[in-house]
Amino acid sequence: MEVIVCPDAEAATSLVAKLIADRLRAKPELVLGLATGRTMERVYDHLVAIRRSTDLDFSGCRTFNLDEYIGIPGDDAHSYRYYMNRHLFDRVEIAAGNAFLPDGMASDLRAEANRYEQAIREAGGIDLQLLGIGEAGHIGFNEPLSALKSRTREKALTQITREQNAAMFDGDVNRVPLRALTMGVGTILDAREIVLLATGKAKAAVLARAVEGPITGMISASALQLHPNCKIVVDELAAAAL
Ligand code: GLP
Repeated sequence: MEVIVCPDAEAATSLVAKLIADRLRAKPELVLGLATGRTMERVYDHLVAIRRSTDLDFSGCRTFNLDEYIGIPGDDAHSYRYYMNRHLFDRVEIAAGNAFLPDGMASDLRAEANRYEQAIREAGGIDLQLLGIGEAGHIGFNEPLSALKSRTREKALTQITREQNAAMFDGDVNRVPLRALTMGVGTILDAREIVLLATGKAKAAVLARAVEGPITGMISASALQLHPNCKIVVDELAAAAL
């Protein structure tokens, strides 16, 4: 793991956006794994700004998001599909057919999870996977007790995660879904390159456990220690306990 400490969140989010832009320039048909959450919003802003000021071209790129809530339709403002449309897909030329998220409204969730894995395989695997980290140590929605070899599947969300994400549901934890479809830890580790981004002091303790603690299914981000090409980009606040 390579840990890159930036002075602040603005520098960290800008660095990650530049890295994505570099990879896309080097490989126009890049298969890009994407993440949601508040931390990523600035990354997408920076990426859109790079797109507007340079010749960066997203038209050959395919994207696969980590996860989606179960039971929230894509046109609902709380879904991750809606988040991605708003922060990225509607602002750059990624064709709708090239932007994949698990379908949290599928009637057969197991079949949907398998279909998602198949779509990633058919795309040739993920070149670059972007990750945030939850306060429970999750990547995607791989909550504590996720197997290190897990694949895309349904996962129950912990209370910590629901509380962390309640801000996006008008502060009402009871409105945060109980379950999500998420890529597994194994699915994520299959990516050829991984960049995890964490900013702010709320992430400091869990980040230290992920980067320096034992590899454990209780902190799914610790599995990244096994990956041969993984960067951890943090600001000084998130790096405080390293
Ligand atoms: C959600 C997402 C994760 C993300 C996490 C962090 O739980 N499923 O993929 O890493 O939020 O969110 P934030 O950036 O808002 O702290």
